[in-house]
Amino acid sequence: MKLAIGSDHAGFELKNTLTQYLESRLIPYEDFGTFTTDSCDYPRIAEKVCKAVLSGQFDRGILICGTGIGMSISANKFAGIRAAACSEPYSAILARRHNNANVLCLGARVVASGLATLIAEGWLNASYEGERHQRRLDMITRIEQRNAIPPYVPSSDAGITPAAEPQAQNPAPGTNDVGPEKGTQPL
Ligand code: RB5
Repeated sequence: MKLAIGSDHAGFELKNTLTQYLESRLIPYEDFGTFTTDSCDYPRIAEKVCKAVLSGQFDRGILICGTGIGMSISANKFAGIRAAACSEPYSAILARRHNNANVLCLGARVVASGLATLIAEGWLNASYEGERHQRRLDMITRIEQRNAIPPYVPSSDAGITPAAEPQAQNPAPGTNDVGPEKGTQPL
């Protein structure tokens, strides 16, 4: 199993704790940042890790922010990502067994590093049980498909004029789609 891991500034120290744990267990991983405690925007990191998982180069991802909530909201915007924010091991284990969660989100301001490691360990060791749960995951996939936003097609290609500011809502693939970098900002 190969893991993609990332955090914002609030999760930076816990990410270091977890990467040490992964190394101790010889679990391969790639760190997608952030690499300092300078304030940064969690959706950027969530996007990198989720794209890495969806690319098939990584089996699962771990995302850490202050609460785990911003990361999980961001990650669950990606079709095919099932992100679970967990504060104790039981939910993390069931997130694998029942929900086949391919991303674990942790809140570094919610759980201490020892508990976070137990949560990650439970999630890493548990396996998806399939059967009745697959029917429900298939329903989630159909919800994703029914509500998918079609990719933006530039008007020159489509032969039509987009209604209003389509880039703001639905940018062309490959563009920086989480918006401009902010300057100094509160944590
Ligand atoms: C950063 O202050 C904080 O908002 C972020 O880490 C996360 O908890 C958001 O959900």
